[in-house]
Order: sequence, then structure tokens, then C-alpha cells
Amino acid sequence: MFVLVNLKTYPCDPLAIARAAREVAETTAARIAVAPQAAHIERVAGTGVETWAQHVDPIDYGSNTGHTLAETVADAGAVGTLINHSENRLKLADVDGSVRAADRAGLETVVCANNPAQIAAAAALGPDAVAVEPPELIGTGTPVSQADPEIVEGAVEAAEHVDAEVSVLCGAGISTGDDVVAAGDLGSEGVLLASGVAKADDPTAALEDLVAPL
Ligand code: G3P
Repeated sequence: MFVLVNLKTYPCDPLAIARAAREVAETTAARIAVAPQAAHIERVAGTGVETWAQHVDPIDYGSNTGHTLAETVADAGAVGTLINHSENRLKLADVDGSVRAADRAGLETVVCANNPAQIAAAAALGPDAVAVEPPELIGTGTPVSQADPEIVEGAVEAAEHVDAEVSVLCGAGISTGDDVVAAGDLGSEGVLLASGVAKADDPTAALEDLVAPL
């Protein structure tokens, strides 16, 4: 299972979480990555943890003030990027452009979507993976894998129908090892989570719990 921890703009210590994730990753077969804010990518990557960007824009080098260039996050040490997170929605053409930009820079891609229909559209753009996240469950602590298993199964089926090469992750409310196991049982190859680690009093313990049953 792939455990991708999105730090959003939570007031956490990205380096402490990165070090904890790197250490826990060494104790498990699970793959663990951290997606900090863009300005923290270089320092987070310096800890040795697998580092992802939270977003890249559908642009190339040039006059794009305030945008995030895929090559720059790759230079900073990111190896992958989220695209179209529920908190940073893009038009379909821009999702496509961001996937192309990430491919150009050698970044792995996870395109987020709300439901199985959007997952099918996202999978058609040829990312490495898609992630289904019902927005109403994000940040609630109520895990999608247990509260809405149908949406995860529907996403797996939708992606498989469009492109069997595209992996499916799920996210929203995931915070325990049982949630991760439930996600895997539904056909998900990984989980995308944030508050369960970024807002935890003890991020190391939270990460250990997430991967304990794997
Ligand atoms: O990107 C992960 C996310 O949106 C889920 O957030 O806090 O419910 O784990 P959370």
C-alpha cells in the first residue's frame, strides 16, 4: 500500500513529520511519502523521505508569475505531485495540462476526483494514479473506506474500465491502520490522508498505527 501524507497548509512541523515518515517507512513494506507546501519541498526532500508536491500548474518555463512549474518542484526534490485536489480544483483542460507538465518533468502523478464519474475522466488523461476523495468526509475523521465503501469500489471499477494501468487510491478521514486495511480490501492500492498525521500530537505514533497491519 502507498500512504501519501498531504500536509496541506496545516501549522505542523514538516521536517519532523518528514523524519518520522522516513523512519516508519524503513520498518514496513508500505510506501510512505509526504507532500509539504511548495516552499518546504527542498528541506523535506533533504530528510530522505519520498517527497511530493501538492500541485503543479499546466505551464512551461516563461511568464507565469505566481505559478508552480513542474520542473522546479522536481529540481527541489519532489518525485511526484497531486493534481486537482478537492481544495485546489482545476478545469479538465488544466488537469490534462498539469499531467502533461508533470510527465515532462518526470514527476509521478495522482489526480484527485470526487466520485467514480470524475475518476473515469481523470483516468482517461493517463496519470499514474487517481484518488477518490468525497469532499464531505475530508478532515472529519470519518474514513471513506468505512463510511462510503461503494464510492471506493465504484472508483476502482471506473478506473479499471478506462485504463487498467492507472492505480486507485482513496482518501478522506483515513487515520488508522484499520482504515488502510479497509481501503485495500475495497481494491484501493493506497491512501491519501492529511489531518490524521498533520494534526496528530504524535505524528510518529500516527504513522506507525497506519502501517502496523500491513
Ligand atoms: O489530501 C488528503 C485529504 O484531502 C484528506 O484529508 O484530513 O481527511 O485525511 P483528511
